[in-house]
Amino acid sequence: MTTRFEEREGVGRIVIDRPDDRINALDPALVQSFGEAIRAARASGVKALIVTSAKKDNFVAGADLDFVRLATDPAPVIEALRAMQRVLDDLATLPATTVAAINGAALGGGCELALACDWRVAADSPAMRIGQPEVQLGLIPAAGGTQRLPRLVGVASALEMILASRRLTARRALRAGLVDEVVHPAALERAATDVARRRPKRKAQGGKTPAERAMTWLAPARRIAIDRARTKAIVESRGLYPAPLKAIEAIEVGLRDGMAAGLETEARLFAELATSDTAHQLIDLLLTTLRQRREAFDDLPAPRPVRLLGIVGAGFMGSGIAQAGAVAGMHVRLRDIDAPAVARGLKTATDLTADAARKGVFDRREAQRIVGRLSGAPDLSGFARADLVIEAVFEEIGLKRRVVSELEAVLRDDAVIASNTSALPIAEVARGARRPGRVVGMHFFSPVHRMPLLEVVAPANGDPAAVATAVAAGEAMGKTVIVVHDAPGFYTTRTLATMMGEAALLLEEGVRIDEVDEAMERFGWPVGPFRLMDEVGLVVGKHVADTVSAGRIGPTPRAVPLLVQAGLQGKRGGAGFYKYEGKKRTPNARVYELLGVSARPPHGDVVERLTLAFVNEAARCLDEGVLRSPAEGDLGAVLGLGFPPYLGGPFRYADANGEALRNSLRRLANALGERFTPADCLRDGRRFYQ
Ligand code: NAI
Repeated sequence: MTTRFEEREGVGRIVIDRPDDRINALDPALVQSFGEAIRAARASGVKALIVTSAKKDNFVAGADLDFVRLATDPAPVIEALRAMQRVLDDLATLPATTVAAINGAALGGGCELALACDWRVAADSPAMRIGQPEVQLGLIPAAGGTQRLPRLVGVASALEMILASRRLTARRALRAGLVDEVVHPAALERAATDVARRRPKRKAQGGKTPAERAMTWLAPARRIAIDRARTKAIVESRGLYPAPLKAIEAIEVGLRDGMAAGLETEARLFAELATSDTAHQLIDLLLTTLRQRREAFDDLPAPRPVRLLGIVGAGFMGSGIAQAGAVAGMHVRLRDIDAPAVARGLKTATDLTADAARKGVFDRREAQRIVGRLSGAPDLSGFARADLVIEAVFEEIGLKRRVVSELEAVLRDDAVIASNTSALPIAEVARGARRPGRVVGMHFFSPVHRMPLLEVVAPANGDPAAVATAVAAGEAMGKTVIVVHDAPGFYTTRTLATMMGEAALLLEEGVRIDEVDEAMERFGWPVGPFRLMDEVGLVVGKHVADTVSAGRIGPTPRAVPLLVQAGLQGKRGGAGFYKYEGKKRTPNARVYELLGVSARPPHGDVVERLTLAFVNEAARCLDEGVLRSPAEGDLGAVLGLGFPPYLGGPFRYADANGEALRNSLRRLANALGERFTPADCLRDGRRFYQ
């Protein structure tokens, strides 16, 4: 079917339906058929009109990103946006009272479409999400979103929603004034029809409270809100991501000079952004992430369902993983050494759940159900029925082996055992096991509830069904899962450790601690390497470096072992590469003393050296088969480690820089040694993406 207009008992209905697709993604064809349906509605003279979707759990998901991703010339983009803006203008100016009946995702263009209606009724379903998440993709709303959203919910809320790329649940959207009613999914059409029949056309108020409206309509008050948003956006985007500032500009122009000027501005700014490398990289990352849901299972058999998840070690990581499992609908059994440790783990998981409920991720009843799925004991009682057990005890190989053998004594033969080790080879953890094939790695990132990546480690003789089960469990927990082969440090820890090691070598040459960190943060890493080492803790850092160093090329960095020897532990101990006093952080002069160097300005480019160390190691992982694909390498680096997203990941970075990258590596290899000799795939000039 296609998008159509129907009339029943005086009420019009536009049913949005993109032919031959599971979801409604906006492309020029859909916009055109929607425009025709609106014209038909106008001609029919109906006084009430609802706009619905023919898709299950999906209203309008947003723009077809393949269309945006290929844009190189702004002119046709502006043309397409104007067409969409005109259609929504047509909808907004219909004489009928219009109501969007939102049954599922109404994101980006879908949200804008709903905003062009007078009223919005949403289904209280888990699939329902509404918002303008364009900024996250390096774009801005440009079918009236920067204009109609502030006019509806007020400028302050609109700025927050757009700049943070919020996707609101039905209840949150109701509270924010973005939807007007939330009803049971089965009652959606009836409720929307009722509203369309009974309510008048509506003029947007600019917020619910007088204060919100003042902020929206009074220039001096508005300037405060806009300035505040702009300062925050500049700090957060570090000048690397232009979209937030453009969104603010479009909102500002629209409220100051009127809707027509605002629409014109958002179209022009969108076209600028849509033809930029940054947006293309961010869109590609999203599309790669979506594809990965399927591709994670490449060459794997069907997974086994996980109904009961066991966790051994209910500490920082274990309790986070337990909560993620319970959110995914699994029953979770926790085990730690004594009752207080179990209780602490359960409390952490409960607190995380309550926190998420407060933020509107799920409602209170759902939060209670999640907590109800968690239980624990200081022994393995209840584990006999577990389908998957994840161990997150201390990072000691002997302890982990002991845990595996204790588990094997009680588990079913087909239950999977996963280690959350951050670096130890899984084959080592599994050594001595009765059934070593069922032991895999599930490397989560901290904090578990926020970090989107899971690195599943497949040992050489592992049972593929065990690997598949770990992948499926990770996806159920909402993670993007990459599958890597078993080697010290796997992929993520190895590349990160290599870059950290290079940073330590820079230090030994006398480059200043804060200089390295600041350069890397300006380049787009969330924190610089020395700050990160201090956060992780130097003892853990040394342990990881020792584990990963087996395959290392070049000199062994001395900094971390020297600091550990001198009793410096990092942030928790009050001093590491920095000294910590209250909130203050200053570079620790002791470090230079220990290394026997005096700090001096860097020679050469710090960022280039560290980035190329990372990219070259990632490429070696591909050569060695630690990585299955460049896409998994890019996802792992960006989602797990914070590799600057606007660069798309090490392999996209390599594609973008081709010959120049090879030459830089050769130059660094001449100056610094063979660790910079281009990995085979880089040397051969392989293109990683078509
Ligand atoms: P943690 O110290 O917070 O938790 C470890 C827990 O294991 C403690 O509650 C401890 O009582 C318990 N435990 C020790 N021996 C046990 C035994 N025999 N049986 C049952 N429970 C036992 O440590 P954290 O940070 O949660 O790390 C756990 C694992 O996760 C380590 O292997 C670590 O390398 C890995 N990891 C840590 C990350 C992090 O950022 N902290 C990130 C990724 C992996």
